[in-house]
Amino acid sequence: MVRISEGEVMSQGLSYHIYSFWGLLPLWMLCASSANKCVVRHEVADCSHLRLTQVPADLPANITVLNLTHNQLRKLPPANFTRYSQLIILDGGFNSISKLESELCQKLPLLKVLNLQHNELSQLSDKTFVYCVNLTELHLTSNSIQKIKSNPFKNLKNLIKLDLAHNGLSSTKLGTELQLENLQELSLSNNKIHALRREELDFLGNSSLKKLELSSNQIKEFSSGCFHAIGKLSGLFLNNIQLGSSLTEKLCLELSNTSIQSLSLSNTQLYRTSNMTFFGLKETNLTMLDLSHNSLNKIANDSFAWLPHLEYLTLENNNIEHLSSRSFYGLLNVRYLNLKRSFTKQSTSLASLPKIDDFSFQWLKYLEHLNMEDNNFPGIKNNMFTGLIRLKYLSLSSSFTSLPTLTNETFLSLANSPLLILNLTRNKISKIESGAFSWLGHLEVLDLGLNEIGQELTGQEWRGLGNIVEIYLSYNKYLQLTSNSFALVPSLQQLMLRRVACKNVDISPSPFCSLRNLTILDLSNNNIANINEDMLEGLDKLEILDLQHNNLARLWKHANPGGPVHFLKGLSHLHVLNLESNGFDEIPQGAFKDLSELKSIDLGLNNLNILPPSLFDSQTSLKSLKLEKNLITSVDKNVFGPPFKNLTNLDMRFNPFDCTCESIAWFVNWINGTHANISGLPDDYLCNTPPQYHGLSVTFFDTSACKDSAPFELLFIINTSTLLFFIFIVLLVHFEGWRISFYWNVSVHRILGFKEIDRQPEQFEYAAYVIHAHKDRDWVWQHFSPMEEKDQSLKFCLEERDFEAGALELEAIVNSIKRSRKTIFVITQHLLKDPLCKRFKVHHAVQQAVEQNLDSIILIFLEEIPDYKLNHALCLRRGMFKSRCILNWPVQKERISAFHHKLQVALGSRNSVY
Ligand SMILES: *[C@@H]1O[C@H](CO)[C@@H](O)[C@H](O)[C@H]1NC(C)=O
Ligand SMILES: *[C@@H]1O[C@H](CO)[C@@H](O)[C@H](O)[C@H]1NC(C)=O
Ligand SMILES: *[C@@H]1O[C@H](CO)[C@@H](O)[C@H](O)[C@H]1NC(C)=O
Ligand SMILES: *[C@@H]1O[C@H](CO)[C@@H](O)[C@H](O)[C@H]1NC(C)=O
Ligand SMILES: *[C@@H]1O[C@H](CO)[C@@H](O)[C@H](O)[C@H]1NC(C)=O
Ligand SMILES: *[C@@H]1O[C@H](CO)[C@@H](O)[C@H](O)[C@H]1NC(C)=O
Ligand SMILES: *[C@@H]1O[C@H](CO)[C@@H](O)[C@H](O)[C@H]1NC(C)=O
Repeated sequence: MVRISEGEVMSQGLSYHIYSFWGLLPLWMLCASSANKCVVRHEVADCSHLRLTQVPADLPANITVLNLTHNQLRKLPPANFTRYSQLIILDGGFNSISKLESELCQKLPLLKVLNLQHNELSQLSDKTFVYCVNLTELHLTSNSIQKIKSNPFKNLKNLIKLDLAHNGLSSTKLGTELQLENLQELSLSNNKIHALRREELDFLGNSSLKKLELSSNQIKEFSSGCFHAIGKLSGLFLNNIQLGSSLTEKLCLELSNTSIQSLSLSNTQLYRTSNMTFFGLKETNLTMLDLSHNSLNKIANDSFAWLPHLEYLTLENNNIEHLSSRSFYGLLNVRYLNLKRSFTKQSTSLASLPKIDDFSFQWLKYLEHLNMEDNNFPGIKNNMFTGLIRLKYLSLSSSFTSLPTLTNETFLSLANSPLLILNLTRNKISKIESGAFSWLGHLEVLDLGLNEIGQELTGQEWRGLGNIVEIYLSYNKYLQLTSNSFALVPSLQQLMLRRVACKNVDISPSPFCSLRNLTILDLSNNNIANINEDMLEGLDKLEILDLQHNNLARLWKHANPGGPVHFLKGLSHLHVLNLESNGFDEIPQGAFKDLSELKSIDLGLNNLNILPPSLFDSQTSLKSLKLEKNLITSVDKNVFGPPFKNLTNLDMRFNPFDCTCESIAWFVNWINGTHANISGLPDDYLCNTPPQYHGLSVTFFDTSACKDSAPFELLFIINTSTLLFFIFIVLLVHFEGWRISFYWNVSVHRILGFKEIDRQPEQFEYAAYVIHAHKDRDWVWQHFSPMEEKDQSLKFCLEERDFEAGALELEAIVNSIKRSRKTIFVITQHLLKDPLCKRFKVHHAVQQAVEQNLDSIILIFLEEIPDYKLNHALCLRRGMFKSRCILNWPVQKERISAFHHKLQVALGSRNSVY
């Protein structure tokens, strides 16, 4: 990740695009350069869509499947396949192959499937497939084969599927001799076959065809015995052929006494059936009949009387006007009847509405599935479904022009049906009366969605539904709930009440209180604003709760009178919770604390910003978390740590993230390390603040600058204190360095054993050596000699007076200082400028002071000299000495005696630092 500063944003964004552009280029070149590269995986070579003009020669020799489809091959030269002798499946479809050599199969002895659809083959000779003995499937769809001469398929003794659809064949004749004894499926659809003749099908005399596909031909004739020429025929497909009633009748007669089981006659212009249409099928075991898309208008009485074995009948998409009580006569064994869109729909005038007479279904004793969707029935008659004693699944979705009221008699005719599922969606139902379903004691699923029901649910509506598991009521007009609304259906497990303008949900006791087995409750899209804390109390089996698109925000506000409403408490088995679009801007601390099995939670499209820490602590097995389109700025470990542990899906798109270390660093690191799917990353996760990150993806945020904040803080503290200490030392050395080095010298001398030299006064020749500038000699003379006179024991060493004549001045000074008990500096501006004093005398005096004692130096200031000047000129500071050793020459005369006294004290003091 790159950290981008404000000024770099533009250029960075630009270069990012350039990088991705350049990144694409090699990829594209890779594709281009790999134009001849087939993908080989597990002995399967895929060379499709590579514009090949030749069979690749460099594939592994042990491949068993070779896909050469969608190339520009003109032939399959057998020599090119020598290498691939292990091939079992060869697909050369969608090329321009016009010739096939017989040696191909010779090179491929194991070949089982050969697909050459959509090529330009026009001729098949006897030799073409002569070596293809092991072939089980041969696909030649969409070539230009117009005629089969002699017996090209004769050697295909193992062939199971042969597909010759979409060629120009005018006959079914594929050979002159018996052959294809193992063939099960033969497709000749979309050819130009006009007639089925015995002599053109007798090459199949030994075959057992499960499927003979002849759809989309122009068959006008079924010659006598044509189907009997085939060894065994069980499935016949004749869709999209203009048969009409008479040819259908002829067809059925030809099928008489065959083993036909499945007959498909979809879109054959069979407008009406008579009691003779299917007569020929009487002597068959037909189980499946497809009559869909026929515009079938009239089903004459007893039309199906010949089909007692039929199990599966589809009449979908027809135009039936009227079902009479004998229309389905004889269909004793039908299990599945499809009447979807089977009846007249064009007109809405009552006269032309389809009519179903009472007892129309009475013959269908074994019917289990009845689909009557998308019709236009005027209503349900009292005996409409009578006799369907095995009916389990009934779909009446959109079956009626309108079915305004479900009364206690509407489903009377189903009283004896063991119905399990009833679909009544899209029927404009507006009212359910009490006891409407009381006949349906076995019913498990009742679908009443997408109607116009608007009523109070007293609970009597569901009377008698003793086994009901699911009631779907979503998308209705309005439902006013009462405490008893579902009191009579305690077995209910799924209740869907989406967008029904649900009223009174906050009634007490709760409308759901008896639904102890409820696992799914959908209350979404109801604009519900008030619910009680105990609305879901006792629903401990609840697994899915949908409350999205309501108005529950107030319930979780701190400011809510009586405090936040904990309406999720106790739902310990909840797996899925949807609270999207509720306007939530607050979630109370323990809102989810009981939901320890939660796998998915949707809090998207709310106004959430700050979530309380530990909010999701119970959600350790969470798999999916949605928080898109909120106002979340910070993704904090304290909140999101626990739920992120096992997450597989996260959606936090479109939040105004604050891209600072405290707010986002942990999240960015988590994103980098997680395997979870994060939808919309990186484009929909943009920083809002701080300004320099605004509009950038959070994934650009550089976390290396923040890492873990704890060690960082420590480092900060250490760094800062080191720096401060350093500054302190520098300042100290700068301002007090002299003191340090001075005391250091002193200490070193002490430690190295220079004992304090505290000789008795009589051991010194002089009481003090007086250092002064030459110009100050008058003052010295004037003030020190009187003191000597007063006190005979006091003797100063005054340079002018006491130096031995002829002695070298420097040596004299050193000797004199050594023979003096103390050294007095008479400090004036003159002294500071006196070169000899400056360097030499002072140095020696200080040296002696260090060796002896700090008290041995006395400073007498005749004028005010700042410390820095003193230091600069003499390397002395006032601070080096005890205050009693620093004397100022008083300006006032009357203080001079006090000065003398002080000087005496200083001279008399012992040479000691203590
Ligand atoms: C097929 O050949 C490839 C190399 O040509 C080899 O990696 C692979 O293991 C072979 N597969 C078998 C099943 O022998
Ligand atoms: C057919 O396949 C078998 C192995 O399944 C092989 O032994 C036999 O040679 C093949 N027959 C021909 C004619 O290639
Ligand atoms: C077929 O219906 C006609 C009347 O439409 C009737 O006369 C004839 O007996 C019926 N045939 C059979 C076999 O039921
Ligand atoms: C249907 O309800 C009405 C009263 O609404 C009642 O008179 C009638 O007997 C009920 N019919 C059945 C079959 O229960
Ligand atoms: C609730 O479910 C349990 C177990 O699945 C079942 O035994 C019980 O009969 C059900 N309760 C009702 C009222 O159907
Ligand atoms: C995380 O998920 C795995 C597998 O989905 C599961 O085995 C594990 O118990 C889960 N961990 C937690 C803390 O729920
Ligand atoms: C992302 O993770 C990889 C490996 O898990 C690590 O090498 C890399 O430094 C991480 N990048 C950032 C920006 O944290």
